[in-house]
Amino acid sequence: MFSQRLERAAKRLTEGQIADLPDGKPVPAHVAIIMDGNGRWASERYLPRVAGHKKGADTVRSCVRSCGELGISYLTLYAFSSENWKRPLDEVDDLMGLLKIYLKSELEAFHKNNIRFRSIGDRSRLSTDIVKLIEDAERKTENNSGLTLILALNYGAQAEIAAAVRQIATKVAKGELAAEDITEVTVAAHLQTAGIPDPDIIIRTSGEQRLSNFLLWQAAYSELLFVDEFWPDFNKDILVRALEEYGCRERRFGARP
Ligand code: IPE
Ligand code: IPE
Ligand code: MG
Repeated sequence: MFSQRLERAAKRLTEGQIADLPDGKPVPAHVAIIMDGNGRWASERYLPRVAGHKKGADTVRSCVRSCGELGISYLTLYAFSSENWKRPLDEVDDLMGLLKIYLKSELEAFHKNNIRFRSIGDRSRLSTDIVKLIEDAERKTENNSGLTLILALNYGAQAEIAAAVRQIATKVAKGELAAEDITEVTVAAHLQTAGIPDPDIIIRTSGEQRLSNFLLWQAAYSELLFVDEFWPDFNKDILVRALEEYGCRERRFGARP
């Protein structure tokens, strides 16, 4: 039963139709993905880790395409965490090099596919050429009306929340804001994701079951889904299966069912 529904949904996706999932369940507006397992994918093949990261970048391209075809409005991809600087220098260099290649090569495709590009994370530690590519892509695609692709680069949720607290405290100190008026809405408005709806679903690949400092505030009521496949093996079918699973979940937001 489930596999038949999956097959039908995958067929619709292959045909490029934007549709509800089986049973008329709508696709989630915001999908966020922790792209994990590039290194293990490479190790299993006796390849250097960078080979996994390269294949992972190809998976990003196909995943962005699939999300656009499915009618998803926002896709956030965790590409580099604020803790990933702890990795050996040559791996960090490889990742930054691939990021540069990705940003340079995709600008045309973003435009062609009506994608609006955004990035969250602390840019101060990224190289100036990468920051320029990000700013260019954001500026050139800001009026596109299709999928919003948000790349989390040097992103850490705790640092994001701390930065929001600093901004709010500064406003209070200047008398622009009264401390008793600070609510959840105030905090959300000072996060880098201000204006972006919270993720409906967070998918993590590679079988690991943790958030690793990703969207901690925004994940308050996200559905969490863990898939065993490594990120380089992630594909349309796995995405559709995840969305189907999401469609079967009952979201309560604390209310009574
Ligand atoms: C995800 O794959 C990519 C980044 C975190 C940048 P990993 O590099 O974490 O791969 P594993 O988890 O070591 O297999
Ligand atoms: C999380 O993966 C960060 C990204 C996917 C960019 P990690 O591989 O860095 O997470 P941990 O260290 O296993 O928690
Ligand atoms: Mg990992």
